[in-house]
Amino acid sequence: MPSPLLTHLLQSLHTVAMLVEARDAYTGGHLWRVSQFARLLAEDAGLDEHETARVALGGFMHDFGKVGIPDAILNKPDKLDEAEWAIMQRHPGIGEKMIAQHPLAPLIRGAIAWHHERPDGRGYPYQLSDEAIPVEARIVALADAFDAMTSNRPYRKGMPIAAALAEIERNLGTQFDREWGERLLQLGRAGRLHHIVGHSEPGIPLQNCPSCGPTVALTRRARSGDRAWCPACHGELRVLGRDGDWLLSATGRKLPFQAPVVDEELVGDFSRSISAGLNLRIIEAIGIPI
Ligand SMILES: [Fe+2]
Repeated sequence: MPSPLLTHLLQSLHTVAMLVEARDAYTGGHLWRVSQFARLLAEDAGLDEHETARVALGGFMHDFGKVGIPDAILNKPDKLDEAEWAIMQRHPGIGEKMIAQHPLAPLIRGAIAWHHERPDGRGYPYQLSDEAIPVEARIVALADAFDAMTSNRPYRKGMPIAAALAEIERNLGTQFDREWGERLLQLGRAGRLHHIVGHSEPGIPLQNCPSCGPTVALTRRARSGDRAWCPACHGELRVLGRDGDWLLSATGRKLPFQAPVVDEELVGDFSRSISAGLNLRIIEAIGIPI
């Protein structure tokens, strides 16, 4: 029986993680997708239920430190200059410090602090290498990079799955962990990642803005007639169709600002599933007072 207190703590953590996603609206669904890729890798490798839940949780929380990066850098549409890049590279360390006093910090510290480390020691911010990088960080690093490659960005289109996998294959052992990378290649080439790529929730693909492509994350509560908004071109859209078979049509209006919302249903479901997987005896043993 999952602990209600643990579920609530997870819910608070996930809500906070969504603040980061809300600041970078173009990447709608990124945290969900990274956590799903990470969970699939952990399950496929036979990690136990507790470790699998911890890895999935790490996938959702990994970029928490971006909350401390200025908007002008986080949302800059062009390449970052050297000084900006140096600031961006501090986000894992910022997240690690900011989360340190949270009761669940021991579960997520690794994914937050070390998800940009590389096996060849050329990652950031700590330049750890190989086995010195904890398993959750190695898995999340791969999941994060794979999602970045297969997602659209304001300045480029996402790669097809096969091209992203080939890129990972080329960088096994240097940028990406070899063992976990090979597992991702197997899963991807067997078609087991397709239901996550380009989706923002289970069964819900990112929807096409008529001018920008698949940029719009609708929730399960979407209904025909709703208004939506493209985070890339800021165009207002109307939701047409029914039961998830949506079509977006442009109203012609531009809305420079749209208030971000937290998808409470997604956060609730996700928190309950992580809570059910975590082992309370281990949680207590590492000093988390549940
Ligand atoms: Fe990151």
